[in-house]
Amino acid sequence: MARVLLLGGSGFIGRHVAERLALDQHVITIPTRRRERSRRDLITLPTVDLVTADVHDDATLERLIAGSDVVINLVGILQSRPGTPYGPDFERAHVALPRRVAQLCSRHAVTRLLHMSALGADLEGPSEYLRSRGAGEAAVRDAGGALAITVFRPSVVFGPGDSFLTLFARMQRWLPFIPLAMTGARFQPVFVEDVAEAIARSVTDPASAGQTFELAGPQVFTLGELVALAGTFSGHPRPILALPRFIGLVQAAVMERLPGALLSRDNLRSMSVDNVSQARWPFGLVPTALATVAPGWLGKAWPRSRFDRHRAVAGRPG
Ligand SMILES: NC(=O)c1ccc[n+]([C@@H]2O[C@H](COP(=O)([O-])OP(=O)(O)OC[C@H]3O[C@@H](n4cnc5c(N)ncnc54)[C@H](OP(=O)(O)O)[C@@H]3O)[C@@H](O)[C@H]2O)c1
Repeated sequence: MARVLLLGGSGFIGRHVAERLALDQHVITIPTRRRERSRRDLITLPTVDLVTADVHDDATLERLIAGSDVVINLVGILQSRPGTPYGPDFERAHVALPRRVAQLCSRHAVTRLLHMSALGADLEGPSEYLRSRGAGEAAVRDAGGALAITVFRPSVVFGPGDSFLTLFARMQRWLPFIPLAMTGARFQPVFVEDVAEAIARSVTDPASAGQTFELAGPQVFTLGELVALAGTFSGHPRPILALPRFIGLVQAAVMERLPGALLSRDNLRSMSVDNVSQARWPFGLVPTALATVAPGWLGKAWPRSRFDRHRAVAGRPG
């Protein structure tokens, strides 16, 4: 049983990680910028303490880390204002924060630091996102010194509450067809509970220190295939209109200016490299096939989705 600080624990993956860690009876603190907007199921977990905190405030971060045995950093964003080699929001969330976390973990003799990155993280990568992820990993290693660090690099993650398959399923409920760029982009989607299991095992397994785990599912899909599957599983399959690269860039340029941008040109650049891995899973884990679980929640999502508009108005996620 450890005192675990779960940064970014209020998000999609974080909720599943918290549930898995609570099974092992770890005592978990999750800082969030907006506690009132967090999921109720997280608040009701027995050993979880959800606290309102700004982790970019140094004194706050130090206080949180000083009281922890294990720190897991899941903070991440998909969009940033632009910059070279990456924009300021990526710098803040993916590089500066992880660096400071690693420094403070070293200072306070934290036993384990688990750092969430992403498959394709690369200082020389084609997108600002991937370059900032590569820089974040390097910053954590530099600042961590002798700290026992494990880095996770998942492909795109699916599961109840994701913003990937669920979003594509929702779009097909409302749109007559799906205009889609980069339909041939390749992914190896990984089930969120498998990611949570790998993280939970790493918390207690000292042999995972110093390792980087690439976490990819058992099957490679193109983006077009994934969108089609989301439509089929949810019962609303729609035709997919493959957009030429130039039109896709225009679509992304418009969408990245909208509030809560769902797509940006930088996202398209990330998709220009295959998001796949042949790496073996740690701890002998066998990743779950998408088709065995996705129909379950995508098919059932619709009865509850009639409340989505009311939840959005109330500022409460589903
Ligand atoms: N989902 C995927 O397919 C996928 C694939 C590869 C890697 N990853 C990485 O895995 C991690 C978790 O992903 P997710 O899908 O669970 O993300 P998510 O649902 O968007 O959750 C992100 C979490 O990070 C926190 N956060 C976001 N921006 C922040 C900021 N600027 N400062 C402080 N906290 C911030 C949020 O906390 P608040 O409660 O304060 O909002 C939230 O808990 C991320 O690092 C992501 O990049 C995800």
